[in-house]
Amino acid sequence: MAQGVSDLAAKRGVMLAAAQAAGDLILQMQAEGLKNVRGKSNEIDLVTEADVAAEQAIRTALAARYPAIGFWGEESNQPPAEAAFWVVDPIDGTINFANGLPYCAVNIALQQEGQVVLGVTLELPARHLYWAERGQGAYLRPANGPEVRMGVNDSRHLGSALLTTGFPYHRGEHEDNNLAEFGYFIAHSQGVRCMGSAALDLVNVARGALAGYWEGWLNPWDAAPGVLMVREAGGTVTDYSGAPWQLTSKTLVASNGRPALHAALLEGIQQARRGLSASLLPAEEGA
Ligand code: IPD
Ligand code: CA
Ligand code: CA
Repeated sequence: MAQGVSDLAAKRGVMLAAAQAAGDLILQMQAEGLKNVRGKSNEIDLVTEADVAAEQAIRTALAARYPAIGFWGEESNQPPAEAAFWVVDPIDGTINFANGLPYCAVNIALQQEGQVVLGVTLELPARHLYWAERGQGAYLRPANGPEVRMGVNDSRHLGSALLTTGFPYHRGEHEDNNLAEFGYFIAHSQGVRCMGSAALDLVNVARGALAGYWEGWLNPWDAAPGVLMVREAGGTVTDYSGAPWQLTSKTLVASNGRPALHAALLEGIQQARRGLSASLLPAEEGA
C-alpha cells in the first residue's frame, strides 16, 4: 500500500478520536450547566465556554501527534500559514446546543495540497460519527451498531426533493438574508427544513435523508467535512454560480448529484436573488 494512503488513515484515526473526546467534554459541560453564554458578532451569534474548551482540546490532541500541521478553528480564528491544516468547528449548531435542542455537532476536516482530504462530523448528543476520506467513500458509524457506507438519494426534480437551508446571523440587518431563496424553494420543493447545523445538514444530504441544501455566508469550518461527505457519497457541491465548492467559497449548494436537480437548485437561487443589490452579494458572485 502506498505510503500516502496509510498516512491518511493514521490521520483519520487521530481526527476521529479528537472529535469523540471533544464530544465527551461538550456533553459533560452541558450536563454541568453552561455558565457563560455570550454573543460574538451580535446577540444571536453565540459562543459558550464549551465551544472554547472543545476547540482547545481538539487543537491539543491534533498538535500532540501532528505538530507540523496548521490549525484553523472558529473560536481562535487565525488563518494558518501552513499548507496543510485542520479546519475545526468545535460546536456547529451552538444555538441548538445552548438551548438543549439535540441537533449539533463537532466538525473537523484536513486540508492538504489544496483540497479537503478528510472530514468528520460527530452528531451530538446522539454520538453518531460520520466521516469521509477522499477517494475512499463516506461512512456512518452509529453510536450502537456497525459502520455503514453512506449514499445520496435519487430525487430527480424539485417536487420530490426535501431540502434544508440556514440563515446568516446578520439576517436582521442585511438584505442578503436568504428569505427570497427560502420563499422560492418552499413554494417549489417537497419541503424545506431549517434545523440549525450546516454540518448535519450536509451529512443528511450525504446519507440520502435530504436531496439538497443551500446556504450563503458560510465559513470553511461549517462546511469542509460535510462537503467531502456529500461528494464521497455520490453528490455534487458547488457555489451559487455552479463552480465546484472550495474552502474559500462563500456560498454553497449541495445535492444528490442528479444533474437536473442540481441545475434546478442553482436556477431557483439565481431567480430568487435577482432583486438583490450586486454590491451586497458575497465576493465570488459580485462580478
Ligand atoms: C451555524 C450553523 C447554522 C448556519 C450558520 C452557521 P454555528 O454555525 O451551522 O446552521 O445556518 O450559518 O454559522 O455558529 O452554530 O457554529
Ligand atoms: Ca458553524
Ligand atoms: Ca461553531
